[in-house]
Amino acid sequence: EKGAYPHYMLKEMDEQPSVIRKISKAYESELGDLTIAPEIKQALQQADRLYIIAAGTSYHAGLVGKQYFEKMAQKPVEVHISSEFGYNMPLLSQKPLFIFITQSGETADSRQVLVKIKELGYPSLTITNVQGSTLSREADHTLLLHAGPEIAVASTKAYVAQIAVLAIAAYAIAEDKVMDVKQELAIAANAIQVMVDAKAAIEEIALAYLPIARNAFFIGRNMDYYVAMEGALKLKEISYIQAEGFAGGELKHGTIALIEEGTPVFALVTQEAVALNIRGNVKEVAARGAHACIIAMEGVAEEGDHLVLPQVHELLTPLVAVVPLQLISYYAALHRRCDVDKPRNLAKSVTVE
Ligand code: M6R
Repeated sequence: EKGAYPHYMLKEMDEQPSVIRKISKAYESELGDLTIAPEIKQALQQADRLYIIAAGTSYHAGLVGKQYFEKMAQKPVEVHISSEFGYNMPLLSQKPLFIFITQSGETADSRQVLVKIKELGYPSLTITNVQGSTLSREADHTLLLHAGPEIAVASTKAYVAQIAVLAIAAYAIAEDKVMDVKQELAIAANAIQVMVDAKAAIEEIALAYLPIARNAFFIGRNMDYYVAMEGALKLKEISYIQAEGFAGGELKHGTIALIEEGTPVFALVTQEAVALNIRGNVKEVAARGAHACIIAMEGVAEEGDHLVLPQVHELLTPLVAVVPLQLISYYAALHRRCDVDKPRNLAKSVTVE
């Protein structure tokens, strides 16, 4: 029930801090640290390569998850869009494990891949919000998102839940723990809270940059690139503004030709190692007339940035950086009088191929 909320999407964005906390509780072991069921841990450990299969927002979460498994646990990962996988099956490793990320657990494109890899005899794990969903029933293992029902077509809390569960899974199989995932998720939950409490400032940004925009760009590097893609998808989906998420370094290879006087460009700056590079990209687009909005994290933020995110562990920045982008899309859609919860042409779960 959306209660006093005008839209499910707003309610679901507000729930994000508590979703992270719920996940932490759900994955807590008797010893108090975060882990996953032993048989799932074993399946991940035994695989020599993980193949993440997903669509839309879940695919974007998968891109972040790849970094977790590779950086925390030295486990190689490929991430594939489910609808493409069937035509272009990659050469598989000796011992693959397939991971399906799907909020609904019903996405037909992803299910088709599951059916195929089962025929081939490969093991599978579904990460889903819906217990008993088709992909959960048909895979060997399931990790639940514990996000509660997500009703708005635009996925928000499921995305942060997917990232948190992927972080816990990677942490669980990591030999050298590069972070205390429980503590860092708690810090991230608080940082998300700060962002959902900054609605007024974020609404102003949406109004300043997007009321009449025909198109918009989101740029970032490394982790921020993945979040930029998710921000663009959110904006397209609910406000119908044509949007693209870009790797900062790719701009000069073509996209920068689209920058005109007043083109909105949202730049994410959360990664210290590439902060200067992305700020360089902002200068390049601003010099060509772009209306640039810099969303930076404490620690790498500078005076004049338009929104500052509380600092969290470098690997968990997507959890926080995505929130202002979700809210910007929400307010842009609202002010354009779009149907926020039920955008045109879209269904919550896409059960046709
Ligand atoms: O239920 P799933 O996670 O499998 O759904 C995948 C996509 O259809 C979904 O993420 C879609 O992109 C959302 N509407 C994005 O907000």
